[in-house]
Amino acid sequence: MYKLSSKPLISKAELSERVNSLAAEIAAAGEFDILLGILTGSFIFVSDLVRAMPKANEKGMRVKFFKASSYGDSTEHGSLKVSGLENLELAGLRVLLVDDILDTGNTLYRLVPMLKERGAAVVKTCVLLDKPSRREAPIEADFVGFKIENKFVVGYGLDYADDYRTLPEIMTMEEV
Ligand code: XMP
Repeated sequence: MYKLSSKPLISKAELSERVNSLAAEIAAAGEFDILLGILTGSFIFVSDLVRAMPKANEKGMRVKFFKASSYGDSTEHGSLKVSGLENLELAGLRVLLVDDILDTGNTLYRLVPMLKERGAAVVKTCVLLDKPSRREAPIEADFVGFKIENKFVVGYGLDYADDYRTLPEIMTMEEV
């Protein structure tokens, strides 16, 4: 059994400040043609991030989402179900791939080559949270909001069995 922590791991104010500084870091690294958000956990992060980014070009940066989720048991590393990438035109584009959290790394490790196979010229990765102690695949994100210890986190888009996504801060789930 798990219950929600009584205090946030990362407060609303800390999230807001870091998302703004992260947006500035990304903008300083160059222009991206398209931001690809991974559903569902990144939806709040993406919406705050793009509003904190100066216009990438005169039309603004394109934003699209697609779904990626792991399936199978935990010994089946790398079983990833991806939908919504089929019709994305990425040829020659500079892509910023955004996820909520980098955990084992299996998701981003598999997605980056998929985007390159679809013709992306550049793929950079951005995550709000990073749990380095859990890494299995050899990948680091190009832009990281917060490095955190190995706790299950919810809120600000992240869920526990689809609950807690709309909490405005990052909370942890604690064993009871
Ligand atoms: P990997 O292990 O492939 O995982 O880097 C990335 C995906 O796993 C989910 N994930 C979490 N979701 N709280 C969550 O709500 C967590 O602490 C957590 N750790 C991993 C998440 O969907 C992420 O995209």
